[in-house]
Amino acid sequence: TKPLRIGIAGLGTVGASLARLLQTKAGSILHRAGRPIEVVAVSARDRAKDRGFDAGAMEWHDDPVTLAAQADIDGFVELIGGADGPALECVTAALKRGIPVVTANKALLAHHGVDLARLAAANGTEVLYEAAVAGGIPIIKTMRESLSGNDVTRVYGILNGTCNYMLTRMEREGLSFDVCLKDAQDLGYAEADPTFDIGGFDAAHKLAILTSLAFGTEIDSGSIYIEGIERVTSEDIAAAKDLGYTIKLLAVAQLTDTGIEQRVHPALIPAAAAMAQVSGVTNAVAVDTDLLGSIMLAGPGAGGDATASAVLSDIMDLATGVVLPTLGIPVDKLKPYTRARMRAH
Ligand code: HSE
Repeated sequence: TKPLRIGIAGLGTVGASLARLLQTKAGSILHRAGRPIEVVAVSARDRAKDRGFDAGAMEWHDDPVTLAAQADIDGFVELIGGADGPALECVTAALKRGIPVVTANKALLAHHGVDLARLAAANGTEVLYEAAVAGGIPIIKTMRESLSGNDVTRVYGILNGTCNYMLTRMEREGLSFDVCLKDAQDLGYAEADPTFDIGGFDAAHKLAILTSLAFGTEIDSGSIYIEGIERVTSEDIAAAKDLGYTIKLLAVAQLTDTGIEQRVHPALIPAAAAMAQVSGVTNAVAVDTDLLGSIMLAGPGAGGDATASAVLSDIMDLATGVVLPTLGIPVDKLKPYTRARMRAH
């Protein structure tokens, strides 16, 4: 059978894990996908670095845009990150050739998701992004596929592994903010610029994507109220604990009488609530719907193998040919986003 040939742009924590897993798990991948998946081209900044996989047979590109525009591939995997610049350019180049894109880049989708979905549709292809929200948790396909018959009223959760890891260690060990952040960076959880994590922006990017899937609207990340965890201290956390609460960075999108409300901010959660039990790098997403009431998915929200698991599931979909519209419904059917009047929270 014909192999699926993919190109990977970006070999950081997630890209290196993915390339490694495609080699070490080749047997079970072949069994499940029915055809081999081969990495035929890669691009990254440092060619000499040992990333734990054999790059011998792979075509090397210094420029991800050249890879996307020229390599002989069936799928393009973007793991560079960043809303604009090379990530946007190479994804655009691949879609213009009609090549499906798999990405973990929530900033890119939060800012350009609708345009990219339009470009994909115009070229007869799609963008897949299971890894862009909540790391390894399969929330995108759950929303697009399993919940497609439901009307969603609210989606909320813990969407940043770095912040949750830091808040958990500050609570349990009384450690300082800076020490916890350094550890999160060393473990490969944090964004290249950790301001995106601690400032709430990464959670906001993910929320913007979930909002679109939940309510069938255009993505509008500019309408999100955002407050990060920078000013949360170990003392705040201890005081909350004394009162029976845990502090979590919560991301919430809900339908209101006046439109959709989207917000990211530290919140007091009653210690007995399921959301309060979500600790460390774990993320959780709760969805309230007309048919199900409430469901919650929890799992690893960051890290190489966990995030690569989600990327791999999209690549498997390309291999088997099961690919749904990028935003769950045809892009020309998206409703405009109507921002709710914000109330105090
Ligand atoms: N920096 C992100 C986090 C990585 O900590 O959740 C996963 O998107």
